[in-house]
Amino acid sequence: MNISQLSRRAVIATAVTLTMPLAMAQTPQKLKIGLMLPATGTFAALGTAIENGFRLHLAEQGGKLGGREVEFFKVDDESDPSKAIDNVNKLIKRDNVDVLIGSVHSGVAMAMARVAKGTGTLMINPNGGADAVTGSMCAVNIFRSSFSNWQPGFAIGQAMAAKGHKTAATITWKYAAGDEMARGFKEGFEKSGGKVTKELSLPFPNVEFQSLLTEIASAKPDAVFSFFAGGGAVKFVKDYDGAGLKKSIPLFGTGFLTDGTLEAQGASAEGVLTSLHYADNLNTPRDNAFRLAYAKTFKMQPDVYAVQGYDAAQMLGIGLAAVKGDAKNTAGFAAALTKATIDSPRGKFTISKAHNPIQDMYLRQVSGKENKVIGVASKALEDPATGCRI
Ligand code: BEZ
Repeated sequence: MNISQLSRRAVIATAVTLTMPLAMAQTPQKLKIGLMLPATGTFAALGTAIENGFRLHLAEQGGKLGGREVEFFKVDDESDPSKAIDNVNKLIKRDNVDVLIGSVHSGVAMAMARVAKGTGTLMINPNGGADAVTGSMCAVNIFRSSFSNWQPGFAIGQAMAAKGHKTAATITWKYAAGDEMARGFKEGFEKSGGKVTKELSLPFPNVEFQSLLTEIASAKPDAVFSFFAGGGAVKFVKDYDGAGLKKSIPLFGTGFLTDGTLEAQGASAEGVLTSLHYADNLNTPRDNAFRLAYAKTFKMQPDVYAVQGYDAAQMLGIGLAAVKGDAKNTAGFAAALTKATIDSPRGKFTISKAHNPIQDMYLRQVSGKENKVIGVASKALEDPATGCRI
C-alpha cells in the first residue's frame, strides 16, 4: 500500500467518523413500544381506551417521545395471567421492545412486572392495580400511571363510614384486584368505625351474581362495597338493581364499577357512590381540553382508562426527555419522574419513591350519564408501598 492509498483511506475514515455520529444523532432509531393490553374479553374496552389515550398524547407531541419517533408492537393479553409470561416475552425477545406498556388485569400486570424486573426493561403500567407492582416487586424500571388497588378501596371505605353506615358487605371478583380493593375498603371503613360483616366473591370473569345477591339480601348490611369493571360491572349493577337491592341497601364501589359503563348500565347506576382518581365533570381547563380532543379524535367520551393511557405517554415523554431518549438509562429516567409533577387531566399528581401516583381520590356519584364529583374522599393519597425497597 503506498502513501497516497493510505492517506485516501485516512480521509475516508475521518469522514466516516465525523459524519456517522452526526447522521445518527439526527435520526435516532425509533423507540419500540410494546403494548400489552386486552383486545378481547370483559376488559377489551378498557384496553382500547388506554391505547387511545396513549396515542392522543403522542399525536399532541408530533408523534415523538423524548425526541424519538415511535413504533408499536402489540399483543392481546386476553386478561389471562396464565398466558402473560409468554406474551411479554414475545414483546421483549421477538420484537426487542425498548418499553413495555401494560396491562389492565392485576395478575397480568404482576407477570409483566416480574419479567420487566428480571430483564431491566422499562415498564409503565397504565391500569393493573396489583399492590405488589409498586410494593414488594417495585424496581427502578417499573412505574404506574394509574393507582394501586389499595388507594380507591381505602378512600371509599372512609367515605362510606362518613355517610353514617355501620355495617357493610363486600362483593368482588376473586383475584388480586378484588381481594386488594376489598382489603383497602375494609381498612378505611373499619378505621373509621364501621364493620365488614360479610365478604363475598366469585371467580374472574364469572358474572353469575344471583346467589350472592340473595346472600346480601338476607344479611341486610347497611351498605355494599363492590369491585367489578368493564362488561362484568355492567351486568353486576343491572343485576343489583334488578334484584331490588338498590332501593334498600345503597351500593358503593371503587370507581371502576361505573367508569366507561354508564351508557350500558342506564338507570340502574343512578345514585351509585364510588371513589376514583378521575370524574366526568372536573371542569378544569386541562380536563376540558383533553375531553374535547379525545371526543373529536375517537368519537366517544374518555374515561379513567383513557386518562391513564394518556398519562403513561406523558410519563414516558418526561422520563425520556431527561435521558435524551435512552430508554436503558432507567436510573436517570426514574430520577426525573420522581421529581416531576404530571399535569394530568385528572389533576396534577406526583410519583412516589415506589413509582406509584400520589393523587386525590374523588368521591363521585352517578347522575344521568356522568360520574359527578361531589367531594374529595382522600386528598393526595399515597400507597403504603409495603415491602418496596428501592
Ligand atoms: C385490575 O385487575 O387491577 C383492574 C382491572 C380493571 C379495573 C381496575 C383494576
